[in-house]
Amino acid sequence: MTVHFIGAGPGAADLLTLRGRDIIAACPVCLYAGSLVPQEILGHCPADAEIINTAAMDLDTIIATIKTATEAGKDVARLHSGDLSVWSAMGEQMRRLRAENIAVSVTPGVPSFAAAAAALGTELTLPGLAQSVVLTRTPGRASSMPEGESLKNFAATGATLAIHLSIQNLDTVVADLTPSYGDDCPVAVVYRASWPDEQIIRATLSTIAATVTPEIARTALILVGPALAGEGFDESCLYATDYDRRYRPQTAESPWASWSPDDE
Ligand SMILES: C[S@@+](CC[C@H](N)C(=O)[O-])C[C@H]1O[C@@H](n2cnc3c(N)ncnc32)[C@H](O)[C@@H]1O
Repeated sequence: MTVHFIGAGPGAADLLTLRGRDIIAACPVCLYAGSLVPQEILGHCPADAEIINTAAMDLDTIIATIKTATEAGKDVARLHSGDLSVWSAMGEQMRRLRAENIAVSVTPGVPSFAAAAAALGTELTLPGLAQSVVLTRTPGRASSMPEGESLKNFAATGATLAIHLSIQNLDTVVADLTPSYGDDCPVAVVYRASWPDEQIIRATLSTIAATVTPEIARTALILVGPALAGEGFDESCLYATDYDRRYRPQTAESPWASWSPDDE
């Protein structure tokens, strides 16, 4: 029996992979992580599936529930919002399951930072402005930050920051980032990206705190960096007319001149 960890995506029910959907449909037990997994996705479960919301369960209870299912010969679908590679608590569950010799699989999902960038219609890496995206957060009640992973340190890089789990710390975010990015640096807050009640707030570091309304208290991403302006960037070399490359050799002397796409 296998426990299938599945990234359920950022919210919209059709932002689930086909693989994830098919695994959900084949599992008689489904554990899902609270309100961030939409009901429509649970609709892919078999009609008689046991569907359990783990929001109020502790780790011991979750593992015991999974163990009971697998010992009864049932595969388990384990759903978490977004993708599993960031802030999913998959790591601690997997460690326990492996210690119990329970097989696991992982199916990725659309992460919320990608859904937020899509909502904004923005590329987060723009030539000459930013070539890195930092997925980070601020410390929370249950999670401290390892030394060195401070917003001030990340800000010194000038990269695009995608700050999760931090809308309640907006004032601190602004205070930590302003010395490096400046008052006029563009900021976007995307609330519940891809959900029907999605909201987008665009401002600058100096105006964002006054622009975000109190009801945006969770499930929001703060994106900061010059790339958010979507202007003032260079065109990439990749599509430049005179750029010598494998698919478009420019001269007979090009190292790619004798290469054909059929060679690959
Ligand atoms: C526990 S983390 C889960 C992250 C998730 N694993 C991912 O791949 O994005 C929850 C945080 O992710 C962000 N988040 C998740 N879904 C979101 C959405 N639809 N829109 C905006 N932010 C979202 C928020 O910052 C929220 O506080």
